[in-house]
Amino acid sequence: MIPSIERVSTLIDRPRIEARIAELGARISEEYAGRDLTMVGILKGSVPFLSDLMRAITVPVQVDFLEVSSYGGGMESSGVVRLVKDLSHPIEGKNVLIVEDIVDTGLTLRYLLDVFAHRKPASVAIATLLDKPEGRQPGTPLLPDYIGFTIPNRFVVGYGLDLGGYFRNIPYVGVYHPPEEDE
Ligand code: IMP
Ligand code: MG
Repeated sequence: MIPSIERVSTLIDRPRIEARIAELGARISEEYAGRDLTMVGILKGSVPFLSDLMRAITVPVQVDFLEVSSYGGGMESSGVVRLVKDLSHPIEGKNVLIVEDIVDTGLTLRYLLDVFAHRKPASVAIATLLDKPEGRQPGTPLLPDYIGFTIPNRFVVGYGLDLGGYFRNIPYVGVYHPPEEDE
């Protein structure tokens, strides 16, 4: 079923997202000055954030992608992370910046940090557009290095975030109100 956009209410509008990404880009450019930076976008949710963030960064960067799947297509994480598509290039000796749309339970990132650690990068940092710290699984006290916005424990869509594959193209972040909420 195609979900209705009428059920989405704005949480973070586009000007706020753009302003925040400019700040993050400036910070990352400063902190990676003189170092080799590889941005790794986690498909598919990170695409709008990555494409804006990379253009707000003034140091030379390389970009690669990796796809994982944890959600079964609904609003609850399945808790099982699966590598769907691996990187195209080795990251040994590289300064890796993982770019995520949102950190919720932290399971996806814990899995990725584990996978990457075996490949001997020079460093690994995490940039996420959104952080939902209340969603963290016990034992996964993960703190991203660069956070766009910290948000309450609601299911959000837009700006890359999806519900069953839809809504990624919405140019702002909104809360999705499921029909059950009306009852
Ligand atoms: P985690 O493994 O629970 O930290 O979740 C990471 C992934 O779950 C993200 O990359 C998203 O794809 C998805 N996710 C978590 N929360 C939301 C949400 O509120 N809306 C849409 N996707 C979400
Ligand atoms: Mg997703």
